[in-house]
Amino acid sequence: MSVRQDWIAARGGPLRGELLVPGDKSVSHRAIMFGAIAEGSTRIDGFLEGEDTRATAAIFRQLGVRIEAPSDGVRIVHGVGLHGLQPTGEALDCGNAGTAMRLLTGLLAGQRFDSTLVGDESLSKRPMRRVIEPLSSMGARIDSNDGAAPLQVHGGRALHGIDYALPVASAQIKSAVLLAGLYAQGETVVREPHPTRDYTERMLSAFGVEIAFSPGLARLRGGQALRATDVSVPADFSSAAFFIVAASLVPGSELLLRRVGMNPRRTGLLHVLRLMGAEIVEENAGEQGGEPVADLRVRHAPLSGIEVPVAHVPDMIDEFPALFVAAACASGATVVRGAAELRVKESDRIATMATGLRALGIVVDETPDGATIHGGALHGGAVESHGDHRIAMAFAVAAQLADGEVRIGDVANVATSFPGFDGLARVAGMQLDAG
Ligand code: S3P
Repeated sequence: MSVRQDWIAARGGPLRGELLVPGDKSVSHRAIMFGAIAEGSTRIDGFLEGEDTRATAAIFRQLGVRIEAPSDGVRIVHGVGLHGLQPTGEALDCGNAGTAMRLLTGLLAGQRFDSTLVGDESLSKRPMRRVIEPLSSMGARIDSNDGAAPLQVHGGRALHGIDYALPVASAQIKSAVLLAGLYAQGETVVREPHPTRDYTERMLSAFGVEIAFSPGLARLRGGQALRATDVSVPADFSSAAFFIVAASLVPGSELLLRRVGMNPRRTGLLHVLRLMGAEIVEENAGEQGGEPVADLRVRHAPLSGIEVPVAHVPDMIDEFPALFVAAACASGATVVRGAAELRVKESDRIATMATGLRALGIVVDETPDGATIHGGALHGGAVESHGDHRIAMAFAVAAQLADGEVRIGDVANVATSFPGFDGLARVAGMQLDAG
């Protein structure tokens, strides 16, 4: 368990200059996993050196995969093939990472051996039935603690493909089913109520797997080998999001965020901020490792509250803490609906954001699946991030607009997704110190 850390943040200067944020978390997790079960060696560049993605790498080392780390942000994964993972008597610790735990549950359900997946306090409270149920209907056997971790994934089961309609839009559930599908007899089909990030489908295809996919649908045949390939990880849009919002809000800002991953299933926040009046220009659009990337130039602009279109919600599911801050600083009210999934993230993000914003003087009406945030003046005060990395970073941004100091409690988990956030924030012009 990490030592508790706090931040003291306050109004800094305008955000200016150029920033390159760390590599994408979703892509980094998958690059390790798919490299591990591929034939041959996979080089990963731009790997996120975060606690979550390092936990995934550590787990595959426990499962007998050699992974070299020749320099920061680089991994060479020596794949052992679809059936080459080795059992370990020890528990596999996913730390804070829901992506690691859910995807690994699918992958491990297809092995010859038993595995135990554990996580930290937050991860041990998150719902796992959503993966256990479809995997069980494929023939897997998974024991849980009343639907939560620790998970005992039993091996040696004969899995069969299913045609599964996801009850919630979740890339993690989709990916768990597809990974089990690689080990299953016959075809596995996943249908989504709304398209979610498609990194698993894109990357399996880059690893030579025949997988048919289109927004909302993915289909693969079991038993296919993965062929190693190199992966170049783009900068994480969700990490860039905090700086996009900060530069939009702080007068005098003009910030360039370089080489940001622009997968359309991730960039919902851009559409919503533009609807609110933000000035964000995409420059140098290109491709990196099969993913669209662009430089984002963000200039300060006054924002107005809106009703967030429900259709954008899955495409910005990790960006609501940042959006709540933008809404708090906008004129008028912003209404969020159709976002009940926020209640089962690293914290209950509707409740933690509402409580924190209220502590800083903002009126927030909570609903079961969203909130109405009434834009107003932010004051100094004390907020709790409840160990949720994105809540901590969102309040660091909020503090840049507050008329007093903001103490942000329990921020150590920022290192799960964005190590070095505080340093970069200071380089950009924000005021943020250890508390
Ligand atoms: C992720 C999917 C999303 C997202 C998470 C990463 C992934 O979770 O919130 O940060 O890499 O597949 P859900 O599938 O639970 O929506």
